[in-house]
Amino acid sequence: MPRLNPLAPLDPPRRLLMGPGPINAYPQVLRAMAKPLLGQFDPQFRAYMAETSALYRRVFQTRNRWTMLVDGTARAGIEAALVSLLEPGDRLLVPIFGRFGHLLAEIGRRCGAQVRTIEVPWGRVFEPEDIERALRRHRPKLVAICQGDTSTTMAQPLAEVGPLCARHGVLTYVDATATLGGMDLPVDRWRLDVVSAGLQKCLGGPSGSAPITISERAAQLIYRRRHIEQGLQPPGYRPGPGRRIASNYFDLAMIMDYWSEKALNHHTEATSMLYAARECARRLVKEGLRAAFARHARASRAMVAGLKAMGLELYGDARHKMPNITGVVIPPGVDGERVRRAMLDEHGIEIGTSFGPLHGRIWRIGAMGANARLAAITRTLAALEKVLAREGYRLERGAAVAAAASAWRAR
Ligand SMILES: Cc1ncc(COP(=O)(O)O)c(C=O)c1O
Repeated sequence: MPRLNPLAPLDPPRRLLMGPGPINAYPQVLRAMAKPLLGQFDPQFRAYMAETSALYRRVFQTRNRWTMLVDGTARAGIEAALVSLLEPGDRLLVPIFGRFGHLLAEIGRRCGAQVRTIEVPWGRVFEPEDIERALRRHRPKLVAICQGDTSTTMAQPLAEVGPLCARHGVLTYVDATATLGGMDLPVDRWRLDVVSAGLQKCLGGPSGSAPITISERAAQLIYRRRHIEQGLQPPGYRPGPGRRIASNYFDLAMIMDYWSEKALNHHTEATSMLYAARECARRLVKEGLRAAFARHARASRAMVAGLKAMGLELYGDARHKMPNITGVVIPPGVDGERVRRAMLDEHGIEIGTSFGPLHGRIWRIGAMGANARLAAITRTLAALEKVLAREGYRLERGAAVAAAASAWRAR
């Protein structure tokens, strides 16, 4: 650990963050965060909130009125969604294909839901029939699923899942933390009810704000549970007939009132995080969603080509690989943690390990947001090549960078 010196001004080392996220934020986003603070009911700030909603409607490809931010990291968006949708005893179905599926199930249990899970081996995803069978068997109120599970680097196709759940009268929640802005997620077309994310992956911001969108069907259900805290109740207030949501901070009914023209004084909006979230969405919309998805796919092809040229084996079902993260099997005889350490200490580059059964078995290398570009990819590959060669791993020098550049150019 570096020597502690709490009175020295902050001067973090410059790193290239090529792990599964967080990644380096776009400079525009960091600059937005340094803009002057405003009071949360300043008309200009309320206008920024409305603009942020409008921008995220475009990012989520939705007309949902309730498209806003939950303050906190991506997990805050998940907790807000699940605690506001689930009542004790409700049945929740979670198709698990990695660590973050287990997180959805764990949060569901904390909400008092009866949680049913189905699992595929890590490195794979579900077929729609697997989910349909589980829907028939368990008859849940809600299905909660990740679009991309960062732990395994797999992306679950969702185009059929939303309509399938809708046909069965089941609500859907999607954790798009790791994928929003990097791969397609047309919320309305795929009939998804609640989707939330974080800024620190493909959106290119710091962690600390969770964009969320809520369908009308889900909003009605949440609003039935509206119980405004006592000191804030307006004249003539009548609580909703449903059971009070078990969290105050993550009560989406109150957060909806905060974001609406009612401007309920629920919390103090994290001003600088709202600036960051607004800037992430603004620059994505300016780039164009299609262009951003294509850039992430191109970065993925370049990274894959470079790693394969080093003779490395990639992890998981290649057909369902997330575009922004690549899992690499740590070659036998190579100490994965020593490699990560050397990448950081000698080259200033962070790559990730994984969790649970994959810890020490794979590295996870990201190329997303501001780092989904050739220069970041080739710098990472060149450094990895040097470190691996020193570890005694046999490879052809220079092949990785050449292969990545050629795959990038190939379009
Ligand atoms: C798929 C997924 N869901 C949820 C989270 C939790 O996000 P946070 O750490 O911002 O709370 C992560 C973080 O890596 C993630 O990858």
